[in-house]
Amino acid sequence: MTSDEIVRTFLDHYRRHGHRDAPEHPLVPPPGDPVLFTTSGMHPLTPYLLGRPHPGGRRLANAQRCLRTTDLDEVGDATHLTVFRMLGSWSLGDYDIATSLRWGFDLLTDGFGIPAGRLHATVFGGSDDGRIGPDEVARDTWTGLGVPVETLGEDNWWSNGPTGPCGPDSEIFVWTGDDPPTGTPSGDGRWVEVWNHVQMRHHRHPDGRLTPLPHSSIDTGMGLERLEMVLRGDPSVFTGDGLRPWVEAAGDRWGVRSPDLRIVADHLRAATVVLGDGVRPGNTGRGYVLRRLVRRALTVLWRDDPARGLAELPPQVLSDTLRRFGQPARPGAPDSSPLDPGAPHATLVDEERRFRGLLRRGRPLVDRVRARGPLTEHDYHWLHDTHGLPRELVDGPLARPR
Ligand code: SER
Repeated sequence: MTSDEIVRTFLDHYRRHGHRDAPEHPLVPPPGDPVLFTTSGMHPLTPYLLGRPHPGGRRLANAQRCLRTTDLDEVGDATHLTVFRMLGSWSLGDYDIATSLRWGFDLLTDGFGIPAGRLHATVFGGSDDGRIGPDEVARDTWTGLGVPVETLGEDNWWSNGPTGPCGPDSEIFVWTGDDPPTGTPSGDGRWVEVWNHVQMRHHRHPDGRLTPLPHSSIDTGMGLERLEMVLRGDPSVFTGDGLRPWVEAAGDRWGVRSPDLRIVADHLRAATVVLGDGVRPGNTGRGYVLRRLVRRALTVLWRDDPARGLAELPPQVLSDTLRRFGQPARPGAPDSSPLDPGAPHATLVDEERRFRGLLRRGRPLVDRVRARGPLTEHDYHWLHDTHGLPRELVDGPLARPR
């Protein structure tokens, strides 16, 4: 299955069960939302999980682009990406967890053809303080379906942040080993998590109190790129439809190898999607996340050869990504061609030029301070506040001899 077919199969399955398509939101949440980026499919639905009626009804599904900087340091392994698409389904005070798990099982086995014997689930075993009991309904549902279950603690409690809707979750893992399945998800990394079904039953308040939500909802999320990897039996998410063009571009052009290749491919692709949603590089907030992604990719690229440059990236690689994410090249510009990668490409090249300039100016300064001895906190502050050189550059590209 191509990744487009996977999305279609997912949405068709939920349409058959009475779900409407929920709109996909940009990575940038609307004004007033304190988070920098949309980190999960449920994020735009938070008001509805808290009780407001949704205009689309009580059963929804979609594919939502997400960005997670919490996983930044894990990028380079087989399964983590900064930007990914999450396939999600929701019951807003409608059906229960047993129904959600059964429909999920049907989709994975009948819809996607994963043998039931390669599935394993985990469920919530109860809170440490004993106030919330183990999730017996989820456990019994899995047992009834013949899927082995592991009961875990706080790992199976999901929240989108310190406050807001939250609750116990049940995670579904697929066996990716060559040998027959063995062990459990917590003990064997060949069990790869693909899907999470959360029972949104509680509301965490700023003072830490937990109160029941007006209605109990279900929120599920499955990473598209990871599911694609599992369905194809690929060794990593980097051979999937959305990542392969980036891996090939960076590998063929610059001869970069993994894990560096994965970092470069992930970060430049993520930067393209962020640009496609209208963010511009800057020194704070979203703009700084974008700037860091580009700089991290360049730092890796320049380690072996500082002559490598982003102007060499084929524009088709950017346009393929923009198309997959349904993004116009210049959001808001009525005349912009939806597939024109020109603007994001030019911004990446411009950002590279600025970064080169910053390193050129910063290097003699850092060398001079270093010559006096190990850097102090005062030195870091001075380099940052007076010369715009953040610590990660001082300790990263500017720490190495030329
Ligand atoms: N909100 C849950 C997650 O992101 C399930 O959608 O994993």
